Amino acid sequence: MAELNLRSQQWFGKTGKDGFIYRAWMKNQGFPHHEFTGKPVIGICNTWSEVTPCNAHFRELAESVKRGVWEAGGFPLEFPVMSLGETVIKPTAMLFRNLASMDVEESIRGNPFDGIVLMCGCDKTTPSLVMGAASVDLPTIVLSGGPMLAGQYRGRKIGTSDIWRFAEEFKTGALSQEEFIFAEACMARSAGHCAVMGTASTMASMVESLGITLPNNASIPAADSRRKVMAHLTGNRIVEMVKEDLTMSKILTREAFENCIMTNAAIGGSTNFVIHLLAIAGRIGVDLNLEDFDRLSAHIPFIANVQPSGEHFFEDLYYAGGLPAVMKELEKFLHLDALMASGLSMGQVIENAQCYDREIIATVDAPFKPNTGLVVLKGNLAENGAVLKPSAASEHLMQHTGRAVVFEDIDDMKARIDSPDLDVDETCVLVLKYVGPRGYPGMPETGNMILPKKLLEKGIHDMVRISDGRMSGTGFGTVVLHISPEAAIGGTLALVQNGDQITLDVANRSLHLHVSDEELAVRKQAWIPPNLGYDRGYVKLYISHVEQAHEGADFDFLKGKSGAAKLRESH
Ligand code: FES
Repeated sequence: MAELNLRSQQWFGKTGKDGFIYRAWMKNQGFPHHEFTGKPVIGICNTWSEVTPCNAHFRELAESVKRGVWEAGGFPLEFPVMSLGETVIKPTAMLFRNLASMDVEESIRGNPFDGIVLMCGCDKTTPSLVMGAASVDLPTIVLSGGPMLAGQYRGRKIGTSDIWRFAEEFKTGALSQEEFIFAEACMARSAGHCAVMGTASTMASMVESLGITLPNNASIPAADSRRKVMAHLTGNRIVEMVKEDLTMSKILTREAFENCIMTNAAIGGSTNFVIHLLAIAGRIGVDLNLEDFDRLSAHIPFIANVQPSGEHFFEDLYYAGGLPAVMKELEKFLHLDALMASGLSMGQVIENAQCYDREIIATVDAPFKPNTGLVVLKGNLAENGAVLKPSAASEHLMQHTGRAVVFEDIDDMKARIDSPDLDVDETCVLVLKYVGPRGYPGMPETGNMILPKKLLEKGIHDMVRISDGRMSGTGFGTVVLHISPEAAIGGTLALVQNGDQITLDVANRSLHLHVSDEELAVRKQAWIPPNLGYDRGYVKLYISHVEQAHEGADFDFLKGKSGAAKLRESH
């Protein structure tokens, strides 16, 4: 191992005063001197936090990673980074994704690491860690935390997607407060992230299909002992990756991103996938745009029968063969030469993958649904694009013209949506403004507005809804999201008025506002930009630098990478 040119030796291999300082303060943790003599130092980037409940089991999981690193001859050092708990943090975890990525990037670059294990779970903890690590570009592997076990509620399985149904029933009085509270513990009965194909499962699948995890990392439940085995093996593997100098940029090629987009289409992944993958591509330097998602998804059917687009749970996907079995079905579409963290190619990884349950993983010739993936809509209402997830939408609304019912912002929507006086029926199009990256700020998951109470009472469960916000990966409905340019920077969305006619035409990828260019110019003249009201701190930085949704909503100054060169000495 002495012949390895290890970055960490720029710290621990130094002679004189500097070397003394670097080693001595590590030895206060009880490490013997031989740990500093040329072993690969592996940073374990841990997002454990009790306010990120989906990652609350990560301290224990990190111990398994360490065992794997020690066993392979490495020296593990665990460090915490900002952790984003989707359910708890206000106003929205997305506001802080870029901040967390900066924490990760600088924590890696500033410390004596040769390789990195990223411990990811709840939604934003995956993209923020991958974005930050990509800007450093050391040998890096992701370990996902795994999904919760499916909930058990009065004889049936439930998951996060049921929250929307429970909320509708609670709103109409069909479900009591007591029953609502009873259901909470039934749903969240084990460690792990959301049990359906929400954003966390989508992100876990994203990193596996990109190739920056070991095979089958994504869907092993958090509570399954095989999750700890995966952690141990990940610890083993990162030491080898350091020896091979298998950096992130050698894996994250254009082909890897294309494999990832096609796999996401097949599993009915979250719409948040688009925004996070664009941001990761921007960091590593791969040219990717919104149209790539539509083009690469268009011919891929839905073959992973997991909620919300399907019926089952993420753990069931693991029992049926996991993501390798899904990718095996996609073999004729994928780039089989793409290199993966295991050191094998995509073709080698899926060569012996098997499906054990056709109720969960279908073939591409007999899929669960033909239309899937994510479609990109354009038109005068979304000049730079908007996204819609057909597998979670209603067939009868895919071609629809309706009267706009406009909510000027989230507070306006909350104040009026359930009013008996709201002039709305099921043919209308609900429009929500100022929930984009800058407008809210932070682009919250409010796009799938719960329908007006009076329509729910009529038995209506879907309508066309459009906004510049996002939707939870566990949500569903005919929901147009991520409209760019957003209302807050003067996009056409800001100019929509009650009574305007809007056409959604999914087949032709169009979102059109039936208002003349002349009339729009008049409205634009009268438009007053909102006062976003932040004059200091992180949110001011965010508003000043966040890009639009079609670019990944990263900060303009974070695009690209600065590499792993050690910073200047301070002592
Ligand atoms: Fe953490 Fe859903 S809330 S993954």
